[in-house]
Amino acid sequence: MTMKALLCESFGPIAQLQIKELQDPVPLANQVLVNVAYAAVNFPDALMVQGLYQTKPPFPFSPGHEISGVICALGSDVKDFKIGDRIFCAPSYGGFAEKIAVDIDRVIPLPDSIPLAMGAAITLTYGTSLHALNNVAKLQAEETILILGASGGVGAAAIELANVIGAKVIACASSDLKLDFCKSLGAHESINYEKEDLKTRIKEITQQRGCDVVYDPVGGHYSEIALRSLAWRGRHLVVGFASGAIPKIPLNLALLSERNIMGVFWGDWIRRNPDLHLQNMDFIMELILQNKIKPIITKTFAFQDAVEAIEHLASRQAMGKVVVAINPDLF
Ligand SMILES: NC(=O)c1ccc[n+]([C@@H]2O[C@H](COP(=O)([O-])OP(=O)(O)OC[C@H]3O[C@@H](n4cnc5c(N)ncnc54)[C@H](OP(=O)(O)O)[C@@H]3O)[C@@H](O)[C@H]2O)c1
Repeated sequence: MTMKALLCESFGPIAQLQIKELQDPVPLANQVLVNVAYAAVNFPDALMVQGLYQTKPPFPFSPGHEISGVICALGSDVKDFKIGDRIFCAPSYGGFAEKIAVDIDRVIPLPDSIPLAMGAAITLTYGTSLHALNNVAKLQAEETILILGASGGVGAAAIELANVIGAKVIACASSDLKLDFCKSLGAHESINYEKEDLKTRIKEITQQRGCDVVYDPVGGHYSEIALRSLAWRGRHLVVGFASGAIPKIPLNLALLSERNIMGVFWGDWIRRNPDLHLQNMDFIMELILQNKIKPIITKTFAFQDAVEAIEHLASRQAMGKVVVAINPDLF
């Protein structure tokens, strides 16, 4: 049997990706084969196909770190899943394809009440932000968290999860439209860092005290300003560099006020802690079922427009989640 997949055959511009016909993957003993319904777009997809991501898969490969779908074949050792099960998961790559073989320790059952489109928009963004806020920063109720790039995938998830924890959220983004979106997710304060002076506004909002935690998926110019805004023993979460620039920070800023600069590498963390990952996913699913958080899909692209979908996100236009309908009518 054959399937269609969006293929990267050499590193280069996103526009170079093409949908081609391939043999179906064959699941290994500890894998299931999934008919992909939806794949969500994430910034690492854009980085990976350009050769700018830490993981460089062998060619040809499909990008795609987050999918939902229905199991269509089982590896010989698989006991806990059956053909026809609706699932969601975060493969390391390969999601923009009609079928994908996934290790069972990554596969999570999708409750019947959750639409497949929403299922594709859960794992990576909420997984990263819950790990960052709970496991790394140990964010507490009443603390103040400043979120850069707050309307993006991981940023929006961080707003919702910080709210669940009971923290005060200051959302930062580059347009008023994006900030309105952040407020609709529960941000208490907002800063348009393209129009307003970030340092002055943080001081005003925190009444000179500073923030307890900075969530930073953007990097570049704003990182140092945000780090300097931390209160005594504040924590700066290094999540990513969507601006394209990795800032070089003077270490005296960590000594002063005993600030902590904390790295977040969710992909490596789940490889090292598969059980804790599944616990975090259970917690996230519980929050979704209780309507305490809700992935917001702002744009859905057809499979043939997958290149446009990745370019949409990489060009700073996306808010919340963007998904590609690979085979949306599965069940
Ligand atoms: N550490 C981890 O484990 C982990 C896991 C997942 C993702 N990440 C990283 O987190 C970052 C965000 O990922 P995402 O999927 O949430 O991306 P996203 O949805 O595109 O959000 C990124 C945000 O960054 C801001 N931004 C600033 N300058 C930008 C530029 N030049 N181009 C594009 N965006 C820019 C944008 O907000 P404004 O326009 O408002 O500035 C945008 O909303 C990426 O660097 C990704 O690699 C890290």
